[in-house]
Amino acid sequence: MDTRSTHRPNIRALSAVFFGCLTIVASIPLITGCPTDGTDNMNGNTNANTNGNTNANGNGNDNATPVGKAFVGADVCMDCHGNTHVDWAETPHANAIESLRAIGQHTNAVCLPCHTVGFGETDGFVDETATPELVGVQCENCHGAAGDHARNPADGASRPTIDLSSAVCGACHTDAHHPTFDEWESSRHARALQTLKENDFAQDRCLQCHSQDYRRAVELNADGETVEIPTVVTAVNTIECATCHAPHGGVDQDVQLRAPVATLCGECHTQGEEALPGNTPHHPQLEMLTGVGAVQADGSALEQAHAHGTLVATDAGQACAQCHVILHDVEEPDEGNPNVTGHTFNPFDEDIEEHQAPEYTGCLDCHTAEEAGTLRADLQSDIQMRLAALAPFFDMTNDAYINPDELATDDERAQLANAKFNYQFVDADSSRGVHNPSNARAALDVAEQITADLEGG
Ligand code: HEC
Ligand code: HEC
Ligand code: HEC
Ligand code: HEC
Ligand code: HEC
Ligand code: HEC
Ligand code: HEC
Ligand code: HEC
Ligand code: HEC
Repeated sequence: MDTRSTHRPNIRALSAVFFGCLTIVASIPLITGCPTDGTDNMNGNTNANTNGNTNANGNGNDNATPVGKAFVGADVCMDCHGNTHVDWAETPHANAIESLRAIGQHTNAVCLPCHTVGFGETDGFVDETATPELVGVQCENCHGAAGDHARNPADGASRPTIDLSSAVCGACHTDAHHPTFDEWESSRHARALQTLKENDFAQDRCLQCHSQDYRRAVELNADGETVEIPTVVTAVNTIECATCHAPHGGVDQDVQLRAPVATLCGECHTQGEEALPGNTPHHPQLEMLTGVGAVQADGSALEQAHAHGTLVATDAGQACAQCHVILHDVEEPDEGNPNVTGHTFNPFDEDIEEHQAPEYTGCLDCHTAEEAGTLRADLQSDIQMRLAALAPFFDMTNDAYINPDELATDDERAQLANAKFNYQFVDADSSRGVHNPSNARAALDVAEQITADLEGG
């Protein structure tokens, strides 16, 4: 289930909120409230679980918040944050102790800090007999110890934090076995907010693709809450783990992506619908790959499918991730020779030296590495040459520049704009043809034909 829906107020859940509270009020008189603002809802069957018979629900916990404890465990949160708990319980996080048990490592102190709650900290996990409620990766691993909050949810001062930064995940998703955070840190995504802040054309709306706190605020407001929307100056989060992953469980419970992998990257790597001749297209990777986006000489849409685009078009397709998010396990990983999780997002980027899979790993379903390398080199040098030959026609400082103001007819001016658009489309895609060789070639064919005609005429 997409956690976005859990923000929405749910009338059906209101009675559950009431009963859920009642249970706790009975056990701890201090409690003054459950969430009623729709930040979280009860799952459909919370009534049955919490309406006075919590001891019978089989979880071995009466959900009473342990007095005075800093860490209290996810069962306690369930009463008031039912939907979140249901989602989380189906993620691998909830079973992190089972993965250790399966290989007989569930008492190994080396492993416990990342596979339990608060190991080594005050009131944290000790062992499964003393603290059975703190096994696995739970709410309090990401939100901090929440005992005070559970005992007194009305107290704003002890309300758990919501931290969108990747460092929260990076506390565990690091080291030679799974250096996901380290890879992300070297990726351009980690710098996206900084890039924008340093750009002279930055506006708040640009944050939609460059900042997670902006994205979250916009989403909460769309769901009926009133939260302040960050500006270019105040935004603090770049493209974080939580931009692509839903922390409580996403469209799939395994990898917890917020959107199917086929559409996830294209939310941002798109030129958008306003990109038409006369405007400059930016990052049209989605359109290029799927064989749309450019225009014919008369301005109508040019469509050119290619096998690479089927990676997006089919449900099973890994889409952009097929070539850009490449997992690669090494034998006996250690600091100097870690596994690769694909989170640099660009195995072809020569500026990223560490943490890269062999660059053609993602091609091996369909090409040999050697073939992919040769095809790529030939295609890219061809496309680059054609782009370089077209560039002067649109460059005011060049002798070959075709000045639209000196053209005879509106039709010619429109054609020139179409040629320029196609040129920029192929250039801005940045793959130099690889995303869709057919589309790139066809777009450049159009641009070359138009400029040749106008130049001659
Ligand atoms: C007795 C009910 C109750 C219990 C138990 C409870 N919470 Fe809460 N929680 C609330 C209320 C009420 C809010 C405030 C909602 C609001 O104002 O948006 C809240 C808010 C939160 C928030 C912040 C939400 C935001 O939008 O800022 C987090 C995170 C949270 N709770 C986590 C937990 C965790 C983790 C546990 C278990 C250890 C827990 N809660 C147990 C009632 C409860
Ligand atoms: C306390 C340590 C810890 C924190 C914090 C943490 N994780 Fe995890 N995560 C784990 C462990 C351990 C597993 C493996 C669970 C298992 O399969 O046993 C895991 C598994 C996952 C998986 C599933 C991986 C798979 O192979 O299917 C995803 C996705 C994930 N985490 C994302 C995140 C994100 C995103 C964050 C931050 C919002 C985060 N994690 C924070 C420890 C952590
Ligand atoms: C620094 C934090 C950390 C420590 C310490 C740690 N793990 Fe993990 N473990 C993780 C994370 C994060 C994942 C999820 C990795 C992913 O899916 O990318 C994980 C996943 C696993 C998995 C299930 C997925 C898989 O890779 O097959 C097993 C089994 C596992 N760890 C065993 C261990 C053992 C055994 C130890 C101790 C010797 C240990 N871990 C120590 C963070 C840690
Ligand atoms: C892997 C880290 C992680 C775990 C585990 C986790 N959360 Fe969260 N939680 C987050 C992040 C990050 C957000 C911010 C919202 C988002 O990114 O979707 C959040 C948001 C929330 C909110 C605000 C409402 C919302 O959904 O946006 C509440 C309440 C909450 N969490 C409670 C819980 C409870 C209760 C649990 C355990 C059942 C839990 N969380 C487990 C990371 C986590
Ligand atoms: C929330 C928006 C967003 C999403 C989702 C997103 N990206 Fe990005 N991506 C960006 C931005 C913004 C940059 C540029 C950051 C910079 O240069 O500072 C970028 C940069 C990149 C780059 C490096 C480009 C270069 O010129 O070197 C690659 C490759 C990339 N993304 C691939 C992906 C893939 C693959 C996915 C999906 C798994 C994805 N992105 C999802 C916004 C996004
Ligand atoms: C629809 C999502 C989206 C929006 C909105 C967006 N960007 Fe980006 N931006 C991206 C992606 C994706 C990349 C990286 C892709 C690439 O380099 O081809 C990027 C890269 C960049 C870069 C670095 C690469 C370069 O071209 O030098 C800058 C600077 C930038 N954007 C500025 C802006 C500004 C300024 C705005 C607002 C006027 C903005 N962006 C709005 C998605 C977006
Ligand atoms: C731009 C989007 C994006 C960002 C940012 C991102 N991820 Fe991922 N992540 C993905 C995609 C896509 C996959 C699935 C790859 C696949 O299925 O081939 C994935 C897979 C994973 C997995 C499962 C790997 C496995 O063994 O199957 C884990 C764990 C994970 N990510 C954790 C993180 C953490 C932690 C961060 C932040 C440090 C992060 N991700 C940032 C897109 C992203
Ligand atoms: C068939 C494999 C493949 C698929 C599928 C694919 N890419 Fe690429 N992508 C490449 C290759 C190869 C390059 C060229 C890298 C180079 O030469 O530096 C590239 C380049 C890029 C770049 C520019 C990187 C740079 O260094 O300037 C971005 C951004 C990008 N891809 C994003 C995406 C997105 C987003 C998707 C999905 C809509 C996607 N790619 C799908 C193979 C692929
Ligand atoms: C889903 C299968 C698939 C994957 C994965 C894939 N390709 Fe392709 N690729 C094809 C097919 C099919 C063709 C068309 C072959 C033809 O035109 O004869 C092609 C054509 C190409 C061409 C164009 C040849 C030309 O000049 O027309 C290049 C370059 C290329 N691939 C590079 C790559 C690279 C690099 C990767 C990995 C990053 C990759 N491909 C991944 C199926 C795939």
